[in-house]
Amino acid sequence: MKIVVLTGAGISAESGLGTFRDVDGLWTKYDLNDVATPEGFARDPALVHDFYNARRRNCQESGPNAAHHALARLEKSKAHVLTIVTQNVDDLHERAGSQAVIHMHGQLMRALCAACGARWDAPAVMHPADPCPTCAVPATRPDVVWFGEIPYAMDEISALVAASDLFVAIGTSAEVYPAAGLVEMAQGETLELNLKPSARANSFGARRFGPATEVVPEWVGEMLN
Ligand code: APR
Repeated sequence: MKIVVLTGAGISAESGLGTFRDVDGLWTKYDLNDVATPEGFARDPALVHDFYNARRRNCQESGPNAAHHALARLEKSKAHVLTIVTQNVDDLHERAGSQAVIHMHGQLMRALCAACGARWDAPAVMHPADPCPTCAVPATRPDVVWFGEIPYAMDEISALVAASDLFVAIGTSAEVYPAAGLVEMAQGETLELNLKPSARANSFGARRFGPATEVVPEWVGEMLN
């Protein structure tokens, strides 16, 4: 089977990385207009770097959980062809051993030059004055996709979802587009795995609810049998 798995913050919640829209989520503590838009970055780049520096540190101090490991196991088994499309900027899928991972919202561990478009591995701590290693302009930003920007690899992702036999969304609230609309492009089976029904739960052919560390290994176990 060709399987596309879309993951969101819920898959990393039990690794200790906060989600965005749950009761104690990041967007209840920070105004996303300040820390997750190009306009916010132009107004106060130090504040934005501080926010992502803290998230990068949090990510480095955490590790993949049973859900990330189960998806890596599924890919490695070669029983199916699996692609993970993640909205997460953490690197927990990679650290679990997944290889076919597309980061549609960018990556915390990468830096991007707003002046020349160069990308490189982000240092642990980034500052507004950091010069780009390619063009030397101090326009360094985290390589994350902010609100108002276009997610990465959308053509590739749309084609993969349209050609999939099974599309599975894990731990995403389905509040943010275009990720939330991918289920509508799927022609095959669709499954939602989440703690509780997402905004688009009814668009899925099947749904299972529970913590990712339980429902994901359970589902992977079934796919491998
Ligand atoms: N197991 C499974 N699902 C969980 C768990 C858990 N332990 N904990 C929370 N969830 C679910 C919530 O029920 C919710 O549906 O994870 C989802 C988290 O939703 P959001 O916080 O909105 O995260 P996400 O869908 O990834 O957000 C999308 O919004 O701000 C942006 O760019 C950011 O990529 C992010 C995008």
